[in-house]
Amino acid sequence: MRTQLTAPAIGARKVRDGSEPLVMVTAYDAPAARMADEAGVDLILVGDSVAMVVLGYDDTLQVTVDDLAHHTGAVARGLATSAPDRSAKKPLIVADLPWMSYHTTPVDSVQNAAQLIRAGAQAVKLEGGRKRLPMIEAILDAEIPVMGHLGLTPQSVHAMGGFKVQGREHRAALELVADAKALAAAGCFALVLEGVPDEVARMITDAVDVPTIGIGAGPRCDGQVLVYHDVLGIEDRILPKFVRRYADLKGAGVTALTAFADDVRSGAFPVSEESYHLATDVAETLGLYGMAPIGV
Ligand code: KIV
Repeated sequence: MRTQLTAPAIGARKVRDGSEPLVMVTAYDAPAARMADEAGVDLILVGDSVAMVVLGYDDTLQVTVDDLAHHTGAVARGLATSAPDRSAKKPLIVADLPWMSYHTTPVDSVQNAAQLIRAGAQAVKLEGGRKRLPMIEAILDAEIPVMGHLGLTPQSVHAMGGFKVQGREHRAALELVADAKALAAAGCFALVLEGVPDEVARMITDAVDVPTIGIGAGPRCDGQVLVYHDVLGIEDRILPKFVRRYADLKGAGVTALTAFADDVRSGAFPVSEESYHLATDVAETLGLYGMAPIGV
């Protein structure tokens, strides 16, 4: 039985105390979860970015708790069947609470968080600062670990006037630090910092005792997160400044599918070895004796 990385263990991982930076990547299905596990990541985020990178929407506002639960279940089943080094700890699954799943009442928020836990997550993430504290406290009261998310919070795309870097002005930077302190004091075990200046991420990282995990927030966080489709170059239409592509799976995929199409059209696929055949006696009784196998 492999050891599971837990929210309290993650919550103690501060780089300033000598911890290695945390590695988080998104995943939305079983094969991606197995790849992330075999790569040795610490956390898998079933992000609401699934709306944009998998489901083809322009923003994250279109997905529901049912959608996130569906993908969380796939990730959990993938992890249950992955086969990394036995000494590797099992990554923590964090599922995103989507827009409008924690914006009405604390009771609704707890029920929605519980749905994601029952689907296989061990923690939930939600966006926003101090105004989300009643919901965060209620979810924590239900014994569900919560990861905060501050800065460029994609669920606020309309309120922010677009996907824009946050905390660039003096007052906005201080507000973000105050939000981070409040979320950490409430009991969030980690904070995602998205789309904030490096200097502001450093101020927040220094100000809180829980780890910060950055995306577009510079190198001075306690960890980094990227979207699976960006890291692997499956999504190639936009390349935000903060993304580093480690592979070109879109290019490799198109090359492979083109070769498949060429082989089908030319008759080169499938050959005899890629086909099932009748036993000779059955072929004979069917009057197929002497028929040349495909590809010969
Ligand atoms: O949904 C997501 O992928 C996220 C990351 C950008 C942190 O929230």
